[in-house]
Amino acid sequence: MHQITPGSDTQRELRDALGRFATGITVITTHSEIGPLGITANSFASVSLDPPLILWSPAKHSRRFAAFAEAMHFAVHVMGAEQSEIADRFSQNGTAFQGCDWQPNDHKVPLIEDCLARFECDTLATHDGGDHRIVVARVSRAQWRDGEPLVFSQGRVGDFTPRLPE
Ligand SMILES: Cc1cc2nc3c(=O)[nH]c(=O)nc-3n(C[C@H](O)[C@H](O)[C@H](O)COP(=O)(O)O)c2cc1C
Repeated sequence: MHQITPGSDTQRELRDALGRFATGITVITTHSEIGPLGITANSFASVSLDPPLILWSPAKHSRRFAAFAEAMHFAVHVMGAEQSEIADRFSQNGTAFQGCDWQPNDHKVPLIEDCLARFECDTLATHDGGDHRIVVARVSRAQWRDGEPLVFSQGRVGDFTPRLPE
């Protein structure tokens, strides 16, 4: 077992420890001053069913931070197993919509088609979260399809393999 007391000289190790927690991968989109904008994020989490609330955390060091931290409307796209290329693209480039099938909603938020799930959201509150901001939002519409998710753990992207019923 590795062990650290988190501090400025052990950030890498803390990241490694936190990376043991597997997540899905999402692409968050919004309408910004420069037009449609997207970002790959694994900080998405469900918060509440009644009212329907979710959260995610934009990093303050990101060049896309202001646009996402101030967005009143955005959409969360949960990536399916075969969509790692979309996640790759939006981790490198916020305007990588070429080749994506997408349409704007009533708030001009880009909605990418054929994702495993999609949540259209209205920002309710934002909270300071150290080097991130925590954005809490209300879900105004949820859509989903059958399929397997893209999974992220320990810096790697993979597939989800369900255990057979015992
Ligand atoms: C799997 C994965 C998960 C990520 N999760 C987040 C996240 O939750 N919040 C965030 O701000 N950036 C996240 N990023 C980083 C952004 O996608 C993007 O790479 C980063 O903002 C690049 O910096 P830039 O915006 O200055 O170009 C993640 C990247 C990857 C590959």
